[in-house]
Amino acid sequence: MTARTRTQVAIVGAGPSGLLLGQLLAKAGIDAVIVERQTGAHVLGRIRAGVLEQVCVDLLDEVGVGARMHREGLVHGGFEMLWRGQRHRIDMRRLTGGKSVMVYGQTELTRDLMDARHAADLPTVYEAANVAVHELDEAWPRLTYEKNGLTHEIVCDFHGVCRASVPPGAITVYEKVYPFGWLGLLSDTPPVSHELIYVNSPRGFSLCSMRSSTRSRYYLQVPLTEKVENWSDDAFWDELRLRLDDRGCAALVTGPSLEKSIAPLRSFVAEPLRFGRMFLAGDAGHIVPPTGAKGLNLAATDVKVLAAALIEHFHERSDAGLEAYSPRCLRRVWRAERFSWWFTSLTHRFPEGGAIGARLQDAELDYLFHSEHAAHTVAENYVGLPLDFGEGGPS
Ligand code: DHB
Repeated sequence: MTARTRTQVAIVGAGPSGLLLGQLLAKAGIDAVIVERQTGAHVLGRIRAGVLEQVCVDLLDEVGVGARMHREGLVHGGFEMLWRGQRHRIDMRRLTGGKSVMVYGQTELTRDLMDARHAADLPTVYEAANVAVHELDEAWPRLTYEKNGLTHEIVCDFHGVCRASVPPGAITVYEKVYPFGWLGLLSDTPPVSHELIYVNSPRGFSLCSMRSSTRSRYYLQVPLTEKVENWSDDAFWDELRLRLDDRGCAALVTGPSLEKSIAPLRSFVAEPLRFGRMFLAGDAGHIVPPTGAKGLNLAATDVKVLAAALIEHFHERSDAGLEAYSPRCLRRVWRAERFSWWFTSLTHRFPEGGAIGARLQDAELDYLFHSEHAAHTVAENYVGLPLDFGEGGPS
């Protein structure tokens, strides 16, 4: 038996992109249904990003879920880099004319958006099996899924796909897989410093981040072959100490892990971010290595542009925004891909790059630590580039 329903926009994926898109559409009076393969608890259990650009902060405010973020989030006007025992502070606020970022966990942001769904009357189906999209080229595309032994079919005007595979052949995929991953640990311990520290050490990259003044998030570069089971909490803390400077070691407070996991590093872009009436947003369309903290912020920008385009379609009967969606977002996506790749190449160890690779990396860091111009470049990218860059650009 098939249960058939109708909506204006069917959204695949109830991560931050899907929930945010749903909220923006609901606020504009457009019907949307979100379909998610996993449970809500699983979505919340994925510990991800922690740094929000202004574009993301503004969007959460726009949909009315920013209160807890402003209460509990930490505004950061700079971060530190550590290399050869030297610390170098990137003073984002000074270098960008007053801009900053908000340190607030993706898990918390997702929880805030989940809590707001009921008030917004935004239906969300969790644990939907075999989610599939059909007839994307036609006027009435369909989305099907199975739940509780029943096949469900949603007929819609558009799909906003925030997590799904791309139809093979329809879209060009650009991909780079890095030869290492990040082992992350979350603990209820005060952070080692009040700002983030990105560390390039001979033993590999590490990052000291935080979720609050009492909860820390740390990462270690590890080989792709590494298994999380091989890392006791003590082994993690010992390795982190070996990558920190004396000041960091003295300030480090250790404790039991709340979560530990390994994430591979990947650069991925799908072009275009559209196939017929299906629009890709967030991770479905692009992945960045996490080093520049860009993933969630790119997703938020996609959603901002896509929601505005869908609203224009339904309220003004104009498809100009939908036509412009993919090229407009891709231009910014590629710039963030470039920054994330570059910042990764600057801070990680690449043994396969050989002696010349190591020397070039040294020169790059030496330049960054001693050039105001180089610091400007990092700060401008880290706080987030503008949505549009003016005329021209790659086609
Ligand atoms: C965090 C993750 C990042 O990738 C990053 O660049 C900064 C912070 C984090 O999880 O806190």
